[in-house]
Amino acid sequence: MKARFVFEFAANTKDKYYANPFVLQNLYDAVKENIPMEEVTEIVEPAAGDGAIIPYIEELAKEYDIPTQYYDRDPDIPEIEKMDFYKTTLEYLPGRLVMTGPPYSGRNYELFLKKAATLADWVAFISPHSYLDYKHPIPDLELIHQKDIGLQDFAGSKVFGGKDRDIKTAILIFKKVNPVTSDIDKALDEDFELKQFARGDDLKGYEYFVSRQGSNAGEVSDTPDDFFSSIGIKVKNEDMREDLELFLDGLKDTYDHLFTRYSPTTKETINMPRMRQFLRRNLYTFSNSMNEAQNFERGQDPKRAMGIGRGVRPYPQMSVKEFKKWFEDDISDYYDTIGYDDDFDFEGVLSDVVNDEESTDQELREEWEEMGAPENLIEKLIYMREYFWDWNYVQHI
Ligand SMILES: C[S@@+](CC[C@H](N)C(=O)[O-])C[C@H]1O[C@@H](n2cnc3c(N)ncnc32)[C@H](O)[C@@H]1O
Repeated sequence: MKARFVFEFAANTKDKYYANPFVLQNLYDAVKENIPMEEVTEIVEPAAGDGAIIPYIEELAKEYDIPTQYYDRDPDIPEIEKMDFYKTTLEYLPGRLVMTGPPYSGRNYELFLKKAATLADWVAFISPHSYLDYKHPIPDLELIHQKDIGLQDFAGSKVFGGKDRDIKTAILIFKKVNPVTSDIDKALDEDFELKQFARGDDLKGYEYFVSRQGSNAGEVSDTPDDFFSSIGIKVKNEDMREDLELFLDGLKDTYDHLFTRYSPTTKETINMPRMRQFLRRNLYTFSNSMNEAQNFERGQDPKRAMGIGRGVRPYPQMSVKEFKKWFEDDISDYYDTIGYDDDFDFEGVLSDVVNDEESTDQELREEWEEMGAPENLIEKLIYMREYFWDWNYVQHI
């Protein structure tokens, strides 16, 4: 019976929440003001959900005589065609605009950006505001407009029974460019090593630890034990040590206000890409945050670089009995917390197990720790990434 709940979850209720009219009006205005609409050849909304954006797109389509297409992996209404954006048969069309509120769970936001950049010249996304101020969130998209519109309420899908959510939101508009490679990023990697630490972790030769979460975000220590979670820095090039120490001395005072601004919640947080941005800005270039490249590529395996993911997952090798045992022994207790325990986003974690084929195990471990997943659960779920979760199969257990 539990497995049926898992099946319902497979419809990914976490990502099925829809933008309010204020957000949509802001998206519409930003598109009109920042994209040369006379040059747009088609508008595609690839994650249309319940169709909240459709009237706004239709308005633009009518005014500029542009064809439109609406898709979703799990459409709420029949007018929207069923299509997984990652497996789309659409090919690159010059002048195309991809306009949507994409799913945010796992790495979906970033992967939607990547996919959109392969199909279109313009990308307009309702966005988590943690993506503010990245000039190149992926190498071939350039930010041309951003507006922070603060905490916004999103309505859970009626069809899929999703929960309403308040999310700190921004409107971001991108233009496709030739991929920007950053020499600064290369230099940063030659001079330093950065790694995420939890309290109690072994030092492993790392020397400076910057707190990542809470009111002490940005404070620096020589041990990870002073903080719940931290970014450790190891100096590889001694010539850079003094500059680094100067930067770390002023980090909290200079950037305190940004730790809340970029945080997905109301708490202060610093994630790894943002830390790298601060380092690039302070140690390597005299530029502001809107004027630099950010390369999110992690791991250069060519398959990954092409977005192919982990390859074809094997068909379920786990017997029904094994799956049931795994679920009942390891998971059902946590499953019962969904909806009750706000501190731990178990739905989000499960969504990653099923949907995120691109991230490495280590990347997911770090992300899940941030979502509050207990350590023993993380290993059990990582193990399950090897299996193809065929929902028809799971449903009939
Ligand atoms: C947060 S909702 C936003 C819906 C709508 N764009 C809006 O802004 O109101 C995200 C939508 O993405 C869809 N989705 C998630 N993964 C998808 C994928 N791989 N391909 C297409 N749609 C996907 C979900 O079904 C959901 O309807």
